[in-house]
Amino acid sequence: MIGRLNHVAIAVPDLDAAVRQYRDILGANVTPPLDLPDHGVTTVFVNLPNTKIELLLPLGEGSPIAKFLDKNPSGGMHHICYEVDDIFAARDKLISDGARVLGSGEPKNGAHGKPVLFLHPKDFSGTLVEIEQV
Ligand code: CO
Repeated sequence: MIGRLNHVAIAVPDLDAAVRQYRDILGANVTPPLDLPDHGVTTVFVNLPNTKIELLLPLGEGSPIAKFLDKNPSGGMHHICYEVDDIFAARDKLISDGARVLGSGEPKNGAHGKPVLFLHPKDFSGTLVEIEQV
């Protein structure tokens, strides 16, 4: 069902510092920051030849990554995102196999304007999994 690794997301307490690390020290191509109020985050993508790294900074009250950063004050790996062809078919199969889809279960548009869903980390080896229809 899952295809390519679309991105690995890292929550960061200081987006400017993280951009400087990736752009100036690691020499990567980095996109300008993008606010995603629906998701409560500001994102920057680091474009690598084979995948992307998504840097996440909390945006607004009740950001879903605020608690994560409270527990991991210097930041840390937050989720991984796999590509799927059909997000509704993927969701229905996951639910019928007993996996928990977070939120309402209806896909929201993610950082690339494509529909995404998140799966409960306890169902996937302690890792928050995002699926994105490409
Ligand atoms: Co993501």
